[in-house]
Amino acid sequence: MPNIIGPLALDGPVASGKSSVGRTLAKQLGWVFADTGLMYRAIGYLMVHHDIESSDSKYLLELTHKATIDIRHEKVMLNGENITAHIRSPKVANSASIAAESSEIRELMVEEQRKIAADTNGKIVMVGRDITSIVIPEAPFRFFLDASSSVRAKRRLTEQIETNPNLSISEVKKAIDNRDKRDMERDASPLTLSKGTRLINTEHLSLNSVVDEIMRLIGNSKTS
Ligand code: C5P
Repeated sequence: MPNIIGPLALDGPVASGKSSVGRTLAKQLGWVFADTGLMYRAIGYLMVHHDIESSDSKYLLELTHKATIDIRHEKVMLNGENITAHIRSPKVANSASIAAESSEIRELMVEEQRKIAADTNGKIVMVGRDITSIVIPEAPFRFFLDASSSVRAKRRLTEQIETNPNLSISEVKKAIDNRDKRDMERDASPLTLSKGTRLINTEHLSLNSVVDEIMRLIGNSKTS
């Protein structure tokens, strides 16, 4: 692979494979991997912890302003505490997507994410919902992964069934549909396929085929 300089921005709905694909791409390229969903999950954790239900809460904004969130090495450190083990629950995920509706909260997250990207001199794979459209729209490599919500629900169920054997496919699909709807219909930076971003339908593709396809596309690109 020639000497490629990114960043590579990757967006997509819940369980579209962006984190697994992004992590693998970063490994192959020797770049940093940043999963920005972890930052919103840290805020979701704060909401659950402080019993806050609305993203309009002044207290939540105050807590977010004061919070230090570090997502390096895929560990989530919130105000110095390692909360990695607590952020994968459906409750935290749901609260994260409620927090993500707030434009004030998003501004704080985006500022931090741009700093993370700038510190890597382009050697970063950053994944989320607004990376291609808002955080680093100037990134030379921009991809949007998608698949039907039934396929995504099956993938999510496979990941979660071990820790939660009572989980049903319909429950998982409902949670995915709710979160997608909120992410796509919010006023502040909704999840959308922006101009110049390449759509990849992962419906019938394995993780490795998606990674190979993206590696092929960036290897063939004019900027390489
Ligand atoms: O990607 P993940 O499912 O961990 O993200 C949790 C939630 O954080 C999403 O449902 C979305 O509402 C929000 N999010 C966002 N913008 C990002 C990353 C995540 O709004 N860049």
